[in-house]
Amino acid sequence: MSELSAPQVTITRISSALGAEVTGVELAGCDETTTELIRNLLAEHLVLVFPNQPLSSGDHVEFASHFGEPYVHPFLDAVPENPAILQVLKEPEDDATFGGEYWHCDISFESPPAAVSLLHAKEIPPIGGDTLFANQELAFSHLSSGFKEMLRGLSAHHTYPDMTEDDERASALHPVVRVHPHTGRESLFVNAAFVSRFDGMTAAESEPILNFIFRHQVQPEFQARVSWRNDALVMWDNRATLHYAMNDHSGVRRRLERVTAMEQSA
Ligand code: SIN
Repeated sequence: MSELSAPQVTITRISSALGAEVTGVELAGCDETTTELIRNLLAEHLVLVFPNQPLSSGDHVEFASHFGEPYVHPFLDAVPENPAILQVLKEPEDDATFGGEYWHCDISFESPPAAVSLLHAKEIPPIGGDTLFANQELAFSHLSSGFKEMLRGLSAHHTYPDMTEDDERASALHPVVRVHPHTGRESLFVNAAFVSRFDGMTAAESEPILNFIFRHQVQPEFQARVSWRNDALVMWDNRATLHYAMNDHSGVRRRLERVTAMEQSA
């Protein structure tokens, strides 16, 4: 394609806290120049929304693998086409959403934890089923210097629900303040789905501080909201964001497919 007829890339921010919609790129089979552009945009906006990306399972996993090793989940079923694609499904009769009603990042119970998740929309309800995101760099930056300094000295145990810290497949210890490997920025790295105590403290001792952080880290001012359309691909940086799927579409099917690319070992 000549430069003159190349589609124009447009970037439109979706909230002042984080997130941008990107049009004019084709993710299936994208080249290294486009991948580098997307890496830079993700570092800047933390959540990227790409409308109208009809991807095969192979395209989805191939694109995800530019951002880290695609993860095969030890406890959840993959789609038949590929062991690295999780089905994110809520049937009309289901009460709970796939992720439960918790703000979380993906796969923080592993070491190293998840880098980037890429969620592709297959069947989206006509109304509802949005995903909320919260910027954890912004959340950290809004703490006092004394509280930040205390958190820099702490680590937390991230454990898969209903599993124990002794189970290596299900539990990992991470610093509470995560330093982004590409940008060097600091973010809050605890979440209500996987963390119930700091290292060296009991759950009861940790609880008041964690409850303060869990409330603080998802304030509306730190958030963006993504409304889905079929074939949209949304990618987010698990190192610096939390997300929450709205449970407001009972009686209607919602189905997406997720690949999570893992952080590389240092
Ligand atoms: C997830 O928690 O990874 C899925 C988010 C969603 O269903 O919107």
